[in-house]
Amino acid sequence: MNNDKLVSARILVIDDDINMMDVLSVVLRRYGHFVKTYTEPLSAIEELRKNNYDILIVNYLMTPVNGDKIVETVREFNKEIYIILMSIHKDLAPSIEVMQKLDIQAYYEKSNRFDNLIMLIQGGIKYIEQINKIKNMNSKLEHYLVDFAKILLQTVGAKDHYTEEHSRRVTMFADIFSKYLKLSSRQISDLQIAAAFHDIGKIGIPDNILLKTTRLTDDEYQVIKTHPTIAANIFSVSDIYKDIYPIMYYHHERYDGKGYPTGIKGKQIPLLARILSICDCFDAIVSKRTYKEGASIEFALSEIEKNTGTQFDPELAPKFIEMVNNNIDYIEKIFKEF
Ligand SMILES: [Fe+2]
Ligand SMILES: [Fe+2]
Repeated sequence: MNNDKLVSARILVIDDDINMMDVLSVVLRRYGHFVKTYTEPLSAIEELRKNNYDILIVNYLMTPVNGDKIVETVREFNKEIYIILMSIHKDLAPSIEVMQKLDIQAYYEKSNRFDNLIMLIQGGIKYIEQINKIKNMNSKLEHYLVDFAKILLQTVGAKDHYTEEHSRRVTMFADIFSKYLKLSSRQISDLQIAAAFHDIGKIGIPDNILLKTTRLTDDEYQVIKTHPTIAANIFSVSDIYKDIYPIMYYHHERYDGKGYPTGIKGKQIPLLARILSICDCFDAIVSKRTYKEGASIEFALSEIEKNTGTQFDPELAPKFIEMVNNNIDYIEKIFKEF
């Protein structure tokens, strides 16, 4: 389904009772639905793989394969289709647990009257319409968020071009490293956002310090060190980013507790902040600044190795080094192009 308004549904029926299916398809077509019927489960599953259907109506007790086994296979590749399970008698129906486990939305007890089934189908169509509306809203919202993020990054770049480029590279390293670590998709996306904005707090640092082309004095360095707190404050006003701002807030903490702003140590530092810290320092060592030449990737990796267990997490740092060595062409390309 491409549009969010569904007037009729595409329905696939699997039942080994040919007579029942003939009657059923006549009734459903009369209501304007597109119907395809199968007596043989394998061909039905093949059809479901190839073409898009809204509703699957499947008989529970069949030979050689029962309806719940068919649903189990269908759910492996299609989580969205609305499923109505049929049975001759409610005593023969599967348990609620089985229905929930297989995400079967409705149960129909077979009879000569199809009113109940038609109502279940109408309910299914309404359900699908709601799901489509939510999906559309979510994709619009995601689009707005991505646009907003781009604007915010440009804002940082307008003040400090280095921070913008650095943040882009750190985001790419965080992305490839989090995938290398096989983190969950939620962790990967949280880390992406945190990496993109980890230095946004620099927006609150006076230009004479932030853009200074010579080395900073101790006092100036103290001011720079407030940027994780400023970043966390900026993002803490938003509810959707509540899991993100701790990653930014702790990105300069060290594993041995000698970092800032709080001095927490070891596993007290959130995992994603420990990952971000390695990606951040790696880029800071390799990239060129007005007051220092850029170092080689090899040198940056030797620095990370040297500071493993003190500055960096002893389990994550070796994996980062391994990840860079395994993807050296891609990493070099990032430094050349961004
Ligand atoms: Fe930073
Ligand atoms: Fe940074």
